[in-house]
This record gives sequence, C-alpha cells and structure tokens, in this order.
Amino acid sequence: MERAQLSKTGIDGEALLEQMRAMKGDDADFVGGRTWSMVYWPGDEHHHVTERANNLFLATNGLNPFAFKSLRRMEREVVQMTAGLLTGPETTVGTMTSGGTESILLAVHTYRERARARWPWIRHPEMVVPETIHVAFDKAAHYFGVRLRKIPVGPDKRADVRAMRRAIGRNTIAIAASAPQYAHGVVDPIEELAAIAEKKRIPFHVDACFGGFILPFLERLGHPIPSWDFRVPGVTSISADVHKYGYAPKGASVLVYRDMSYLRHQFFVSTDWPGGVYVSPTMQGTRPGGCIAGAWASMMHMGEEGYLALAAQALEGATRLRAGLAAIPEIRMLGAGHSTIVTWTCDGVDTYAVADQLAEKGWSVDRQQKPPSIHCTVNASNLPVLDTYLADVAEAVALVKANPELAKEGEAAMYGMMAKVPVRRLVSSSVRKVMEQMYAHDGGDGDLDELESDDWMSKMVDKYGPAVIDGLDRIRAMGGRR
Ligand SMILES: Cc1ncc(COP(=O)(O)O)c(C=O)c1O
Repeated sequence: MERAQLSKTGIDGEALLEQMRAMKGDDADFVGGRTWSMVYWPGDEHHHVTERANNLFLATNGLNPFAFKSLRRMEREVVQMTAGLLTGPETTVGTMTSGGTESILLAVHTYRERARARWPWIRHPEMVVPETIHVAFDKAAHYFGVRLRKIPVGPDKRADVRAMRRAIGRNTIAIAASAPQYAHGVVDPIEELAAIAEKKRIPFHVDACFGGFILPFLERLGHPIPSWDFRVPGVTSISADVHKYGYAPKGASVLVYRDMSYLRHQFFVSTDWPGGVYVSPTMQGTRPGGCIAGAWASMMHMGEEGYLALAAQALEGATRLRAGLAAIPEIRMLGAGHSTIVTWTCDGVDTYAVADQLAEKGWSVDRQQKPPSIHCTVNASNLPVLDTYLADVAEAVALVKANPELAKEGEAAMYGMMAKVPVRRLVSSSVRKVMEQMYAHDGGDGDLDELESDDWMSKMVDKYGPAVIDGLDRIRAMGGRR
C-alpha cells in the first residue's frame, strides 16, 4: 500500500468532505438498523443537536478547569444527573471519562491505590470478578499489576455468589460485577454480592457501562430487573456510559463513587515537573471539550421523556426479537432478558456458518464464543428492519442445516477453530500477528482471513487434515483448556 503523504497545499474543505462522505460508503449501516452493537442511533434530530454542541466546544480543553469554567460546569452537571439516575446519595461524586474502558481502568486503579494506602501489606493485589465481566477489566489488571480472579458463572450466566465469596481472600482489594454484562445481557446478583462486600469491608464496583442509561428507564416502564444501583448498600462505585444509551457523541462515560473517600484515590498529582505542578482527575491529559459538551447537551435535550420513549422502543424491539428467534426450533436463547441485549445460539446447526450467511445479507454480526453465539444490542433504530432480520435468520438457519459443510468455509471455519483451540496462547499470537500486519508501515485494513493463510491453524489442518478439529475438541473435553 502506498504511503500517505501530507498534501503540499492542503485540500479544499468541501472537496475533502465530499471525499470523506464517500469513504463512509463501506462502513456498517447503523442508520438503517443493520448493526446490533457499537452505535446507539437516536435519530437525525437528536444527532444534529449533539453534533452542534460538540462542535461548539471542539477546540476547548478540559485539562485546566480554571480556564474553561463552562466545561467544569457541564462535567459536574453530567456527573450529578447521572448520579441521580443511579440513585446515588447526596455524597455521590465522580468524573467524566472518555468511555467505558477508561472508567473501568480508573476504577481498578483507584481501588489499587486505596488498597496501597489502607492495606500496605498487600503485595499482590487481586480483584474477584465473574468470568463474564467486560474485558476492560483484563486490560486494567494487565496495566496496573492486579490479578483478576475470574469465577465461572452459573447456567443462567449470572455470577456465582458462593464461588465469588469463597474466592475473596487476604489479597482482595475489591470485587466487581455487571448490570448487565455485555455477552448475554444479564444483571449479576448485585444485592447478594454487595452484602458480602460490605461484610468483608471491601469496595464493590458495578459495571453499568451498558446499563446505566437504559436500566433506570426499563425499570420505570415496569420491566423486572434485579436491584443493581446505589440503592443497594455495599455498592461503592458505578460506571455508566453516556455514549451508549445516553445517546451522546462517542467519548463520554461517567464514573461515580458513593463518596469522596474513594474518588480521592483516583486523582494524580505531580509536584516536581518543570512544566509546573500537575494535577489530573482522569487518565487523559488533554480532555476534549467537545465530548463533555456533547454529553451534557445529549442529556439536557433528551430529558426523562426522551430517554423513556427510546427505551420503550428498544424494549419492544428486544421483546419481539427474542420471541421471533425463540420460535425458530434450532435456536436457543442465552440469558434471561433483563435488558435490551438478545443473545442466541444454534443447536444442531453451526452458529458461525449462520453468522456468515447473515453477514452476506448485509447484517453486521457480532460473533461470541463459549458457546458460539450471536449478540444483538437492540435499539429503536432496529425496529423498522426487525422482521427482515428474523426472516433472514430463519433462511440462514435452514440453508446451513441443509448444507452443513458451510461450517468448514469462510469465516465460520476460522471462528470455529479459534473457539476450539485449547491452547489459547496460540490464538493470542495469531491475532497479534494480524494486528502487527494492520499497523505495519505498509499495513492495510487488516483481515481476519489472513489468519488462514500463513499461520498455525491452517498448518495444523494441512498437516493433520480437518479431523484435527475434532481432536482439539477431545483435548478440550479432557480438560486441556488454558
Ligand atoms: C458492560 C460493558 N462494560 C464496558 C464496556 C466498554 O465500553 P467502551 O467500549 O466504551 O470502552 C462495554 C462496551 O460495550 C460494556 O458493554
């Protein structure tokens, strides 16, 4: 690929924007409702308001709250409005962050710092979490030298309370669980876990990055949801993303704590830098003012009624989708339907091959593993195409049932193998290779298919034949996982 170069004279703005509009042509179609994650589309009118709000503060920087008092005010109000939604007491405090991952990184870091101050004898800090917790916790643990003790979940995909209690030990600095978790959309037993955290006097973070801006409205609509917010004593912090069901432009999440005794461990201060005394509330240095303004505008413009209306449509979509999928005999639903996530798998038909068929029909498909499954986050924008999706799923299932060999073709073969290989280190090194190719000096857009061309998986199949896949299955059954 030819190396991009800075143009000599600069390109005319209009021509450039035209070129960029054309570049979007191959992107996922979220406005048309063909995506089931990543974008939470509120419709044109709301989008344009937040776009203009974002632009109004595009050049500003929240790094120094004394310079941009407007940003400090908007951040404070976003935090307070969010704390209200999460039923935080008067003492609730927090900060905005760039997204769910930053909120989670910060929560883990805060609890590690708190442990260092209170329990200095802990040399190998640990957090106890269900295995379904968002992968950002793995990232945080990796960055900050915290060991994650991941506890298998029950058949209902919810955290196993007794097993988590047993895993808490002398090195535990905090526990965490989700409301809801991303993979199956179930809310963990927060009340029971919080009671344990309180008894053991350890902090408890609830990851409501997904749920923070939808569960409160589903509850108001009468949808049954297990308790999960600050009404539960023992919950010490919650993360909630405004750029998901808060319908803000990307780059906005909120991390709130029950009181300042936790938040104080989040701040970073350096007093000796020649550039001056430096204090920073979050991980970022420069904080894009547009993200703060966009989130504030989104919440102010939407208001309770706006959020309720969109939540009602998302819930209607999720309920219809769940019922439609459950009516297809080969499909089994995963998770109890606490939220607007619908996750399904196929019995007797290869799920990844069905996924390939859906992708061919122009759907964005989120493939999951353990077991192979497909994830749908439902939004109001999916409603107009819901019946088409259901018809396409039924057709795809029938086609794969009639042609089981499709499981050995296309991405299905690759995903199938990745899910089955018992030595996860091998999978990791292959995926890293794809990243290296993608980010190489002459790299392109990256393609998972490249895994098939030159790596160990196809080498194994070449060497041992397709039966190797069954062999791997047997190794796994014998306990060869990880
Ligand atoms: C439950 C949960 N936690 C955390 C995250 C991470 O959020 P982000 O992608 O904004 O970093 C997600 C994203 O989907 C999520 O669903």
